[in-house]
Amino acid sequence: MRILFLGDVFASSGLSAIERHVRDLRDELQLHLVVANGENVADGAGFTARLAERLLAAGVDCLTMGNHTWRRTGVGAYLTTAERVARPANFLATLPGRGLVVVTAANGVRVAVGNLLGRFALEPARSPFEVVDGLVAEARAAAPIVLLDMHAEATSEKVAMGWHLAGKVTAVVGTHTHVQTNDARVLPGGTAYITDLGMTGPHDSVIGVKKEIILRRFLTQQNQKSEPADQDVRLEGAVITCTTEGKATAIELFRRSA
Ligand SMILES: [Fe+2]
Ligand SMILES: [Fe+2]
Repeated sequence: MRILFLGDVFASSGLSAIERHVRDLRDELQLHLVVANGENVADGAGFTARLAERLLAAGVDCLTMGNHTWRRTGVGAYLTTAERVARPANFLATLPGRGLVVVTAANGVRVAVGNLLGRFALEPARSPFEVVDGLVAEARAAAPIVLLDMHAEATSEKVAMGWHLAGKVTAVVGTHTHVQTNDARVLPGGTAYITDLGMTGPHDSVIGVKKEIILRRFLTQQNQKSEPADQDVRLEGAVITCTTEGKATAIELFRRSA
């Protein structure tokens, strides 16, 4: 079966790209499931219940999050009941929401999707390596196919998580840097891996933000409010092929102009 995992959906242009293309892509690429990281859909930082529901209504089966999860008001209440949105499992245990969701693919197979936050430059309450084994045990008890979004800044943390889970899950995909990496491969034991899926959003930008604003920030050291860019919009991610028992057999980069 085939699964499309899309990298961070950035602002309104990323959302529009999803709304315009995902339904057609499901047919064209013969997809059984589509997952997207939604942590940047609200103007580039965070999400709202309304925007999450739009992504889910556009043909995305479930969402993962990241360090921007709590940016917008009202998300806690939404996450308490949202059954198709996973936020990092290694936030404080007392926070609302779930680190693992279970969805049913188009062919009826159950798929567990987990989300973890890396430590480098980010601030999870607990190390992702402390919680991952418990999360994977829970996922494997719930579904034959297990996908894990390792949302992290450091390449090394993501590569290490891939090796830690080699042969234990169907796929470990990295998100957060918004720049697609060229290292997609199937690790021993049938675990698809990529360090970063890339960004579903405007690429005439610095990782989604208008490049003039970020350049000014670096050149003058004067911080200004970020504004999302809106040109050269692409969908980026990876297509994972796996057996219904959860072994990955292939992973291909996905990139498409919107
Ligand atoms: Fe992001
Ligand atoms: Fe992030």
